[in-house]
Amino acid sequence: MTYCPCYHRGNRIVNRNNMSALSELNQQIGACQKCQVLTKNRTNVVPGEGAEDAEIMFIGEAPGWNEDKQGLPFVGQAGMFLNELLASINLRRNQIYITNIIKCRPQGNRDPLLSEIQNCRPWLDRQIEIISPKMIVTLGRYSMATFFPGKSISKIHGTALKKDNIIYYAMYHPAAALHQRSLRQTIQDDMKRIPSLLASAEAIKPVTPEAQQLTMFEV
Ligand code: URA
Repeated sequence: MTYCPCYHRGNRIVNRNNMSALSELNQQIGACQKCQVLTKNRTNVVPGEGAEDAEIMFIGEAPGWNEDKQGLPFVGQAGMFLNELLASINLRRNQIYITNIIKCRPQGNRDPLLSEIQNCRPWLDRQIEIISPKMIVTLGRYSMATFFPGKSISKIHGTALKKDNIIYYAMYHPAAALHQRSLRQTIQDDMKRIPSLLASAEAIKPVTPEAQQLTMFEV
């Protein structure tokens, strides 16, 4: 029998050193050197922040300048708008979990490379496994493409997909509203749908494996 250093305390998985599974994972992410260029240029790795037992996980694209400096996600201008959006549905950041598809800042805020997304994917998968959220909200194109491959953000924002008992919900990136004022209201409206979607999540029947891939519903 293999020795597992982890056990459950309440909802949390902790290890024998009394460190939560998520803190342990974040330490590992912090030491990651899989992407040479990102490793060389980063000030801090930005694993994520929030409640280990969060019901909702928000997944953005990549840390920006402020996030790289502070080691925390969404602390710049887009983060301020995200805080406003969360407040509009009575959520505080310590009630949710926020992370990104990639955990290190691409220089000059360029788009993440496919290789970087792939290198970082096991960290994201493990975060999802530990937090075990009821709902994953993707923020922006890159995050959406991870969970809704082949879709277009302009078509599927504000819609959700239920798979493996998790509701995946696609939204525009909050930064999109900073560049394109007209998207602000759309993003606010999409955010306001989250509570009812989450409330109805329990009532949604488990679907067959074939249907799981196809259960896309408007909310
Ligand atoms: N944009 C993102 O996608 N993530 C951050 O953490 C900050 C800005």
